[in-house]
Amino acid sequence: MNLSELRENYTQGGINKADVSPNPFEQLAAWLQLARDQKIKDSNAMIVGTANKKGVVTSRTLLLKGIVDEKLQFFTNYNSQKARDLAENPHASMTILWKELERQICIHGTVQKTSREISEEYFKTRPYDSKIGAWVSENQSTRIAKRADLESRKMEFEARFPNKDEVPCPGFWGGYELTPSHIEFWQGREGRLHDRLSYHLDGNNWILERLSP
Ligand SMILES: Cc1cc2nc3c(=O)[nH]c(=O)nc-3n(C[C@H](O)[C@H](O)[C@H](O)COP(=O)(O)O)c2cc1C
Repeated sequence: MNLSELRENYTQGGINKADVSPNPFEQLAAWLQLARDQKIKDSNAMIVGTANKKGVVTSRTLLLKGIVDEKLQFFTNYNSQKARDLAENPHASMTILWKELERQICIHGTVQKTSREISEEYFKTRPYDSKIGAWVSENQSTRIAKRADLESRKMEFEARFPNKDEVPCPGFWGGYELTPSHIEFWQGREGRLHDRLSYHLDGNNWILERLSP
């Protein structure tokens, strides 16, 4: 398979240091809001990269669920591959791509679990099916024999928790929050001379720099 001819030209615009906030979290919120306003599907989807203690890297798509006190929150299963990686190595990356806007955001930093209270509060807001789904997939990322096993576990948990408002948050499920050390905003430009504005922390100050494309 040869994909060498596949390429796009990016023409929608550019970004300058003078156009962006000195605070990367304000800039992140502004871009997320714009993507949402433009009705980009899964505008809060991001690829989260983790690595275990041997340096073996894995990545997967997760939904960014909030930015609170300069921390980026997501929710998942604490038995999963990513959770096992994060228990060994707290460093992680987040990449958001909005092809429709010719924009990308690349973030990295360190991750810790959210408080139990935050996990439980968020769990309450999930639809019934998602709550049951969390219980069904207790051992996320492990091998299962067949799809039918999931369906029968689903029926078991629906019988155990028939009321939407009374499905408890499983102990093996909850939030993580990433504290960024770097946040880069990328805007595609013509001729591959893309704009890259990168913030990194120097002590308590965010330094804004332009990177070579
Ligand atoms: C658009 C999209 C959003 C997703 N959001 C989440 C999420 O918020 N939390 C989650 O645990 N898995 C989410 N998933 C599933 C993960 O990509 C992944 O399959 C799962 O978390 C297991 O990952 P792991 O085995 O690397 O731990 C999402 C998948 C897609 C495609």
